[in-house]
This record gives sequence, structure tokens and C-alpha cells, in this order.
Amino acid sequence: MVEFDSMALQPSSPVVQPSVVPRHVAIIMDGNGRWAAQRGLPRTEGHRRGADAVQRAVEACGEMGVDFLTLYAFSSENWKRPPAEVEALMFLLDRFLRNKLDEMLKKNVRFQAIGRLTDLPTSCQESLHRAIERTAGNTGLTLILALSYGGREEIVDGVKSVVRDVQDGRLDPATITPDVFSQHLYTRHWPDPDLLIRTSGELRLSNFLLWQLSYAEFWVTPKLWPDFNKSDLEEACAAFAQRERRFGGV
Ligand code: FPP
Repeated sequence: MVEFDSMALQPSSPVVQPSVVPRHVAIIMDGNGRWAAQRGLPRTEGHRRGADAVQRAVEACGEMGVDFLTLYAFSSENWKRPPAEVEALMFLLDRFLRNKLDEMLKKNVRFQAIGRLTDLPTSCQESLHRAIERTAGNTGLTLILALSYGGREEIVDGVKSVVRDVQDGRLDPATITPDVFSQHLYTRHWPDPDLLIRTSGELRLSNFLLWQLSYAEFWVTPKLWPDFNKSDLEEACAAFAQRERRFGGV
């Protein structure tokens, strides 16, 4: 049976590992638009403040000893937004990658990205590749930005990769297992997320890491993303530490 204690800050199970920090945290950063609307500001201002919250989340995860942080920064579906909003999001991403690079180098953060990255404007692709290359030797937090990312698209790309390997004789179909298939996903280098955080109170996956979140613990807060801070992350991690993870066992 699937247990989903939505919005729950209280443990749904007995305490088993009180001080466990999730190794991999994934976040659906939602509510930038509503944050702006509540203040009579343009949506882009919500995104700008959302980028500040990204910086806070990266720092907080680094300080808490999280190894991997995956942020849903731009989905495959986000291309449907008005062109001016898409442009503003790409501008913020580009600026973040350029302006924060030195700080990320100092903080030992390693940049990575998943998604159909060639969809991004050339300047963003360049900033992204530069950030990835320059931080490749860092050994602290790995920050994985999901950009032009969709879980279904990733699975389709994974299937195509499997088919190519079978056709080229590198893979025997009889040997395909979930672990083998995982090696054909964008995320093959990293463990699956342990904890999924979603802001703004929505209870949806929104096409995020559909394969990888199979056994993640969910934590949802009504707070809007631009207001998310270190104490929220600590609260999420405290709730995570109270969960009993059975991975389908008893
Ligand atoms: C969801 O809020 C958020 C996004 C679609 C984009 C997330 C982008 C950022 C946090 C800023 C830039 C990112 C980086 C990595 C610097 P929404 O617009 O869907 O909010 P709403 O549901 O209230 O309308």
C-alpha cells in the first residue's frame, strides 16, 4: 500500500533513524507567480526572488551535508508560457550561472544538469557548460539543475538509448532490468532522491523524475518558493528523519 501523508509535519511511522540527513534532495520550486501576484508585482519578480531562494537552498544543503540537490528549474511544459516569461526565466538562469560561479567554486559546489539541454538558448548552454566544467573537480554538494526537463521525455530518451544499444549489439534484451534501464537515464551518475520537497501546497509530481522518485519521501509545504529558507529545509529533513522507509518490504 502506498503511504502518502500529504502536508504532514508529524511522523507517520515510529522514529527509526532520528538524525538522518537525506543524501539526495529534489525540489519542485513552485509558487513564484503567486508570490508576485499577492504583492501586485509582475510574475518575473517572483522568479527573480525565486532565484535568491535557489541560492539559499544550495547553501543550506551544503551546510547540512546533503550530497545531491536536484532543482526543477524549467520543465518541458514551461516552454508553453508567454515568451516574455520564458525569456525572463532564461535570463535569470544565465545570470545565476555566471554571477554565482565564483561563489559556488568557493563553496565546493559541483554543477550538473539534466534535460533536453540543447533546447536552451545558446548563451544559457554556454554558461551552463562553463559552470559544469569549472566546478567539475569540486567535491561538496552536487547541484543538478533540471532544465527543459520532463520525466516522460527522459524515459522516452532512455528507451531510444536502449534500442540503439540493442540494435548495435551492445545490449542483450534478456539482460534488461530496472538497474540496467536506470543507466540509460539522464540521472545515471547519481543515486535516486531520498526526499522530494514541493512548495506552494500542490500535491503533484508535474512530470518530475517519474522513474527516480519511486521510493522518495514526499514533504509538501504551503510556503511559496521565494519564501523558502533554511529552516524550511531543516523542517523537511527532520520530517524525513522520522519516516520509516520500507522500500516495499515490511
Ligand atoms: C514555478 O513557479 C517556478 C518555475 C516555473 C521556475 C523556477 C525558477 C526559478 C526558481 C528561478 C530561476 C532558476 C534558477 C536556477 C536561477 P510558477 O511560476 O509556476 O508559480 P505559480 O504556480 O504560482 O504561477
